[in-house]
Amino acid sequence: MTDKIQQAWFLAAKYHAGQRYATPEAGVSVPYLAHLGAVTLEVQEAIRRKPDLDSSLATLCAILHDSLEDTDLSPAVLENTFGKAVLDGVRALTKNESLTTKRERMKDSLRRIKAQPREIAVVKLADRICNLAPPPSHWSQDKVSAYRKEAQLILSELGSADDYLANRLGEKIM
Ligand code: NI
Repeated sequence: MTDKIQQAWFLAAKYHAGQRYATPEAGVSVPYLAHLGAVTLEVQEAIRRKPDLDSSLATLCAILHDSLEDTDLSPAVLENTFGKAVLDGVRALTKNESLTTKRERMKDSLRRIKAQPREIAVVKLADRICNLAPPPSHWSQDKVSAYRKEAQLILSELGSADDYLANRLGEKIM
């Protein structure tokens, strides 16, 4: 299990190499791995509080949650290395780019996440908590409020998966 997690972390480092993550500080970005680490730490705290969560599934999906959406990692490699539950979880966390509006893509993803084990909703809540903390300074006021509205939808659709993360997300939205 720890070997698989190490393997996922290095795979994520390899595939997200060169990608950057915007920070709230103007003009400052960090390697994308910082975001994956932040989401994974958020998920670890949820697991510590809820030992009945499948720690392996939640941790692997946290590390790999953007690997299909943002890198050219193939679904076959993901499945062969980490199994079908991880592939299915990461797929549910990946937007369907053939849908035209942002809202349609979000609603579709939320529907697919809800059809997955609870651990996948836990990763989505953690991801949004990290993305809200606090928005990059170059975002317009409109973008910030649209993003908060979307977070409210995530909270109402997935909040029941984990009360601790639901509270965390609720605080970030306010
Ligand atoms: Ni993310």
